[in-house]
Amino acid sequence: NNNMIILSIESSCDDTACAIVCSDGTVLAEQIYSQKEHVQFGGVVPEIAARAHLSHLSDLVKKTLNQANIDWKDINAVAATCGPGLIGGVIVGSCFAKGLALARNLPFIGINHIEAHALTVRIPHISEHQVHFPYLLFLTSGGHCQCIHVKDIGDYHRLGGTIDDAAGEAFDKVAKMLGLSWPGGPALEALAKEGDENTFSLPRPLYGRPGCDFSFSGLKTAVGNLLTEYENIDTLPRKLAANIAASFQKAITSAIINRLENAIKASPNSTLLATAGGVAANQYLRKHIQELANKYNLPFVAPPMKYCTDNAVMIGWAAIEILQQAAKNNKVIDDISMLPR
Ligand code: KG4
Ligand code: ZN
Repeated sequence: NNNMIILSIESSCDDTACAIVCSDGTVLAEQIYSQKEHVQFGGVVPEIAARAHLSHLSDLVKKTLNQANIDWKDINAVAATCGPGLIGGVIVGSCFAKGLALARNLPFIGINHIEAHALTVRIPHISEHQVHFPYLLFLTSGGHCQCIHVKDIGDYHRLGGTIDDAAGEAFDKVAKMLGLSWPGGPALEALAKEGDENTFSLPRPLYGRPGCDFSFSGLKTAVGNLLTEYENIDTLPRKLAANIAASFQKAITSAIINRLENAIKASPNSTLLATAGGVAANQYLRKHIQELANKYNLPFVAPPMKYCTDNAVMIGWAAIEILQQAAKNNKVIDDISMLPR
C-alpha cells in the first residue's frame, strides 16, 4: 500500500503532540500542547511532564482526528516515540498509541526520536531541496547536541556529540544567570542584540581539536565567573548583561562552527547540511552555519521552526519512511514495540 495515512504521537519531553500524516508528506492534521506546567520551575520536571501528557493526550488525539476530518478506518498505522527521552512521558505516549493500535487492529510503529529528527528534512515540500542520502545533520536542542551522518533510512553514523551540556542547556543556564526567564535561548538572543559581542573573550571549548564532539560547561562556568560580584541578579546593569549575552553567543557559535567544520570534513560525501532542534532557531547561529555551508558548497536546509522542535509530524513521517523501506524489501511490519534502531 503506497498511499498510507499514519496517526502519530510524540511525548518524549514537554510537548504533547499528535499528527495525521500521508505518505506523500501531506499533513492532514497536527496538534501540539507545549506544557506550561514547567514554567514556574524554570525547567522541565519529568514527573510533571508524564502526568501532563496523560491528562492532555486523549483530547489532543480527538482534536487531531476532528481536524483531519477522517475516520479511523482511513488510518493505516499508529506510530509513537519509544525513546530516547524522559521515560515517564515516553511510556505514557507509547502505551497510549499502542492501546489505540490494539483497539483498532492497526500496526503499531515505535519510533526512535532522534531518527525522526534526522529524517524531518526529507518530508516533501518542507524545503526547496529534495533531500537525498547521504547528508549531514546538526541536531541541537535543550536535550540533544550531535552531528549525524545520515546515510540511509536506518543507517546513521554519529560523528560526535556533547560530552557535557547540550547547546540549548548552555543557552538556558547562561540566560538564567543573567536573570532571564525560561526557556532562556530566545530571550538571550534578543538581549544579545543590544550588546557588544567583543566585550569579553570567553572560552570556546574543544576549538581547534580534532573530532566532532562538543563541550559547553567550561563556557558556562566562565560566564558565571563574570557574575560573581552580582549576587543579586537585579543589580546587574542591563548593558553589562547584554554584553555578556552577546559575547557568550559569539563564543558558543564559534565553538559549534569549528566542530561542524570537522564534521563536514569527516563526511565528504554529504550532499547537504541540515539542522534541527530548538537552538537552530537562533538567527546568529544560523547565519554562521549558512556561511560555513557556503564555504563547502553545501546547500543548507533548516526546516520551518515548528518541525525543528519536537512535533508529531516527524514521528509520522519516520514511520512512513520505515514502512516504505520495509515494503521495498517485501517485509511485513505489524508491530515494532521495541526501539527499532
Ligand atoms: O527542540 P526544543 O524545543 O526542545 C528540546 O530541548 O528537545 O529546544 C528547546 C531549546 C531550549 O534550550 C531553548 O532555550 C533553545 O532550544 N532555543 C534557543 C532559541 N530558541 C530556542 N536557543 C538559542 N537561541 C534561540 N533563539
Ligand atoms: Zn527532540
